[in-house]
Amino acid sequence: MRVLSGIQPSGTLHLGNYFAMMKRMIDYQKEHELFCFIVNYHALTSVFDADRLAQGTIDAICDFIALGIDPEKATFYVQSDVPEVTELTWILSNVTPMGLLERAHSYKDKLARGLPANHGLFAYPVLMAADILLYGAHRVPVGKDQKQHLEITRDIALRFNNTYGETFILPEPDIAEDVALVPGIDGQKMSKSYGNTIDIFADDSELKKSVMSIVTDATPIEEPKDPDRCTLFAIYSLFLDEEGKKELRQRYERPGLKYVSVKKELLKTIREFFEPYREKRQALIEDADYIRDIMKYGADKARSVARDYLEKTRDRVGVHYQQKLSKR
Ligand code: ADP
Ligand code: TRP
Repeated sequence: MRVLSGIQPSGTLHLGNYFAMMKRMIDYQKEHELFCFIVNYHALTSVFDADRLAQGTIDAICDFIALGIDPEKATFYVQSDVPEVTELTWILSNVTPMGLLERAHSYKDKLARGLPANHGLFAYPVLMAADILLYGAHRVPVGKDQKQHLEITRDIALRFNNTYGETFILPEPDIAEDVALVPGIDGQKMSKSYGNTIDIFADDSELKKSVMSIVTDATPIEEPKDPDRCTLFAIYSLFLDEEGKKELRQRYERPGLKYVSVKKELLKTIREFFEPYREKRQALIEDADYIRDIMKYGADKARSVARDYLEKTRDRVGVHYQQKLSKR
């Protein structure tokens, strides 16, 4: 099975990214053929500072490798290193109804947040469809917010297949219920764009600041508390096994629990959880040659698959007129 997913280099990576996508991709690479990439073309829709985009891309590469993506085993690359994806985007655009894109929640949300209503933002899901279809992916691990984008991808693939004959595999979204929507410190969805994140590699003081500001309700200490409506509980649960969650739940339900004590424990847990990866990440940041080489290696591997799919697609739609000449 071919598993594929991408992440935007539009800011520092956070717990939502880690548990919904990165960790699951890292686990999948043991058993499946994995395509994992940094979607810098997509990030162009929201980052308008070249230096920030380039640095964000390098940081995301280092984070992923430090956390366990094995670039020798998986196909790990930067989206723009396989420019074939933009050609496929154009071809797919011609079987993509306007209405399909007009209904995209993500587009509407981004407009509401003040991003410019330009063609890139509108066509974002078509580029994402090309990302997936160009590699014949079967399964796409993402958070819940990407569900509709996956439906759009399937719709585009189906329309293409119906128009030109069986070409693309219809990918399955792979959303894990327990981490489908990780809340941020304010209780909304954790997102780089909402300024409510707990970052994977935040330094001690940043980490402390975010964890200590997780919103909690005003239930007095001596009263039992409701874990199911508590953002702190939801975030802590990410790091706990079933037994650990049960114990924490029991502590909530008994009088006397202080949110501040739970926050302190969570802070320690997060620090310890990511500590083993910090050194590797630092070493990577300092090794520009390795990053350059390994990303070229990844792009070459990705490109060889992408080219096959693109050739087939070009042939299907008829831009491959040379083929007709050689058949004469
Ligand atoms: P952000 O919303 O912070 O910009 P991205 O759009 O780059 O994050 O998301 C990268 C991956 O992480 C996607 O698969 C997305 O669904 C997932 N993801 C991001 N934030 C969350 C969250 N709060 N809960 C669950 N999954 C998330
Ligand atoms: N749109 C996704 C996000 O914001 C990122 C993305 C781009 C992606 N191309 C993809 C995810 C292909 C999965 C597969 O998170």
